Amino acid sequence: MPQSSSIHVAIIMDGNGRWAARRGLPRVAGHRAGAEAVRRVVEAAPDQGITALTLYAFSADNWKRPPGEVAALMRLFARHLRTETPRLVENGVRLEVVGRRDRLPAPLVAGITAVERATAPGGRLALRLAVDYSARWAIGAGVILPDVDLLIRTGGEQRLSDFLLWEAAYAELYFTDTMWPDFGAADLARALADFRTRQRRFGGLPEAAAG
Ligand code: IPE
Ligand code: IPE
Ligand code: MG
Repeated sequence: MPQSSSIHVAIIMDGNGRWAARRGLPRVAGHRAGAEAVRRVVEAAPDQGITALTLYAFSADNWKRPPGEVAALMRLFARHLRTETPRLVENGVRLEVVGRRDRLPAPLVAGITAVERATAPGGRLALRLAVDYSARWAIGAGVILPDVDLLIRTGGEQRLSDFLLWEAAYAELYFTDTMWPDFGAADLARALADFRTRQRRFGGLPEAAAG
């Protein structure tokens, strides 16, 4: 199977809360462990041939969660963006946050602006973090990303939860029961290996049958 030279992988990072509950920990502990998984995956991605990575961190519907969990998540995003900036720069990662910003806490918006500016020259990986994101909102606002090649969802559910509805038109879908905090480089490699066995036809015919 020919290997696409540029692969856009999108991940619905689900299962933090259940990961924590199984360990008798508060949900926030799952989100903290999830942030570690983000670091592992971002560091592994370029070596696995991924040129663009879009991660679903917080959906527009996640505002429905208890205020304490939402506030903890917002603090975690702000802290993580700040502490990761040097590593992102070092690794040539360009970070862009996609989604609405007008409902985010001001310190987080300031942190987003700072990390986007600092990482703008990065040319090795286009990393997009979806925060207060809704695909329906994005389509309405005309904010469209590159087509997704492989869409991964962890945590066992098999649904899109308003993520990249437009861009995933021909995405290969990969669902795993692994909870997001347990996901790492080897899991990413497994998903990509599976992706490379898929025959993408885009409505045409298999190569052997064409012409
Ligand atoms: C995904 O994990 C992270 C966010 C949506 C912020 P969840 O928090 O949805 O974890 P589960 O699905 O309850 O296990
Ligand atoms: C989707 O997960 C959003 C993120 C992973 C950021 P949810 O846990 O919010 O989705 P549902 O509620 O199971 O559809
Ligand atoms: Mg969930």
